[in-house]
Amino acid sequence: MEILLDTANIEQIKKYVDLYEITGVTSNPTIISREHAEFWPLLTEIKKIIGDRQLHVQVTGETWEEMVKEAECIQAKLGKETYIKVPTTEQGICAMKHLKATGSHVTATAVYTTQQAMMAASVGADYVAPYFNRMNNLNVDSRKVIGDMVQLFRIHNKPTKILAASFKNTEQVMDAFTVGAQAVTVSVDLLTTMVENAIIDFAVENFKKDWIKTYGDKKIYEL
Ligand code: G3P
Repeated sequence: MEILLDTANIEQIKKYVDLYEITGVTSNPTIISREHAEFWPLLTEIKKIIGDRQLHVQVTGETWEEMVKEAECIQAKLGKETYIKVPTTEQGICAMKHLKATGSHVTATAVYTTQQAMMAASVGADYVAPYFNRMNNLNVDSRKVIGDMVQLFRIHNKPTKILAASFKNTEQVMDAFTVGAQAVTVSVDLLTTMVENAIIDFAVENFKKDWIKTYGDKKIYEL
């Protein structure tokens, strides 16, 4: 069960990468553009903060040759271990094939269908990233699509993992995990929502009151 942060915000990454058990950080051109920062310094800083955790960076080229060239540049600057995110188009599949031939880590992104996932797995993508909420917006049953991908990879012994993305609520995240996605990438806001609500606070507050009634403000290690 892997959780990644879908953000390029330095402050958020700094805070949450240590607070929770985080497998890595994913980005895409939209996420990067939100930071209004220079591209390489931003990614270099993220890499420094996350250390050995995964960093997924998306290419922007239109042809497979451009995508591979961008990937090589990303790897030269940020390390060969960087996951190269490639849109799952015809040119993208060809780029993935070339990248896997040189031992790169590949994440197939912009996935809306099981057939895209199958094509990406066929060229050895390490992860496929189905877009949960965006599929829902197309009246597609995201749970079923991701469940089908899980089944497909299992039947055909594909090591490709499912890194579900594009979430608008925690129910979608839990649905992805429940039907078998190995990983999710989520915003910090959603991740925080997982353990934040008034009922939890109420329970914790009551424990505190009862403790204080008996032991005052002493901690366990002071008794
Ligand atoms: O990682 C891909 C994801 O960021 C897309 O999410 O919210 O733009 O649909 P969204």
